This record gives sequence, C-alpha cells and structure tokens, in this order.
Amino acid sequence: MQKLIVGNLKMNLLSPQDRDRYLAWMDKELKSRKLKNSEIVLCPPFVHLEAFRKWNNKKVKLGAQNVFPEEKGSYTGEISPVMLKNLGCEYVIIGHSERRRYFSESGHEINLKLISALKNGLKPILCVGESQVEKDNYETMKVITKQVKDALANVKRAKAEQINIAYEPIWAVGSDIVPAANEIMEARLLIRKILVEMFGKKYAEMVRILYGGSVSPVFAKQTCIDPGMDGALIGRESLVPHGFIKTAEIINNN
Ligand code: PGA
Repeated sequence: MQKLIVGNLKMNLLSPQDRDRYLAWMDKELKSRKLKNSEIVLCPPFVHLEAFRKWNNKKVKLGAQNVFPEEKGSYTGEISPVMLKNLGCEYVIIGHSERRRYFSESGHEINLKLISALKNGLKPILCVGESQVEKDNYETMKVITKQVKDALANVKRAKAEQINIAYEPIWAVGSDIVPAANEIMEARLLIRKILVEMFGKKYAEMVRILYGGSVSPVFAKQTCIDPGMDGALIGRESLVPHGFIKTAEIINNN
C-alpha cells in the first residue's frame, strides 16, 4: 500500500502571486526527489484549485479542504462534490477539527459529506481526534470511537479502499506539541479495530490511517514511522515546500 502524504494549505496563499511563487518553489523541491512509495496530495483553498490543476505536476494529486453533501442547487456559498471532481480533485478532507469547531459540523453532517464524496468518486480523508479537555478526562478512545462510527454509518464496505482516516489530536494541531509514538499507535489500533467491526478484516485493512498535528521533518519519525502510520496530514509545514517534501521523503523511505 502506498503511503499518503497530504498538505492541507488551509486559508493561506492570499494572492495569485503568492500561489504562483508557492507552485514554482514546490516544482523545484519535487524535481530531484524520488517519492515512489507515496502519493503526494495538496489541498489548496477552493479558489486556487483551477490553478493547481493547470500547474499539472505529475507527482502531485489534488484535494479539497471541504465539500457540501448536495450535488447542485440553491446552496449559496457552497461547493459540490461534482464541481470538485470536474476540477480534477481526487481527494477531499472531511470533518477537520477546525470545521467541527468553527462551523459546528456534526457527526451526521460529516457522514452525509463522506457518503456524497464517495458517491461522486472522491476519496475522503476523514479527520478524527480529541481535544485537550477530552484527553485530560481520559476520553480519547471514546471520542475517536464515536467520531469514526458516526462518520462511517451506512458506508458500504466495498468503498473501504477509497477511505482514509487521519488521527489528529486537536491539541497537537499547529502547536508543536506531539503525542508519544505509543499514544498514536494506540489510536491507530483502535481505529483499525472499529473498522474491522464495521467492515470485516479484509476491507478494514484497505483503509489508510494517517497521523496529523505538527508533522515536520523533526517529528516525522515519532509521529508517523514509529507508530506505523500509513501517511501524514500536514498543515503549517505544507506551506514550506522544502520542509513538506523533506517530511514526505522521510516517511516515503521508511
Ligand atoms: P499542523 O496542521 O500540521 O499545522 O499541525 C495539521 C492539520 O490541521 O491538518
């Protein structure tokens, strides 16, 4: 199974000039690298998807940061899975903690988005993870279990191969504080166990389980390699092509 290394550019690259500078730098970093065991995905803001598609770097696939469950119609300000597919997106991040927090996305909404993404040929990268308070209350396992079960309700196991789950403890996002390798491994084993219960062993093993939260070249070993993860979801460091590709290289080569 190839590793999956995803850059979540969030609400950055504020002008076409910023974006073009970023893409030129990314080109340079990718040129000399061999990342044969990995899929590299970049998820820019919606307004840059077209430019990223035209950039057309063969080593990079395109993803979106969010999606609306409906395919078309009167939903002012929303972006449909059909639009994303037609713009060349292969992946879509669903249920990121920032969306759960700032936009009150519920487990049910996340489930609708995930089902709609799959129906329209997009591969979801589902984010799950506990807050600091939940961690302090020893609720990590309970929170992960509920988030995974809610998001995957009524999903057919035949779709398992398309699904990716990122374990992102909220307290580790953008903080430079990361969990110990064994904590991440415990989360991975729990997610796999839930998947086995829902889909059966064979299909459960097709789902890639990533880690996200302050991933960088410094933390790549502790957060992705030692806990046996299938890849990484990278925020801040993805804005620095040199660091992003270096991180990808470390994960790819291990
Ligand atoms: P970070 O963000 O790498 O900046 O911690 C990860 C994410 O939010 O997906």
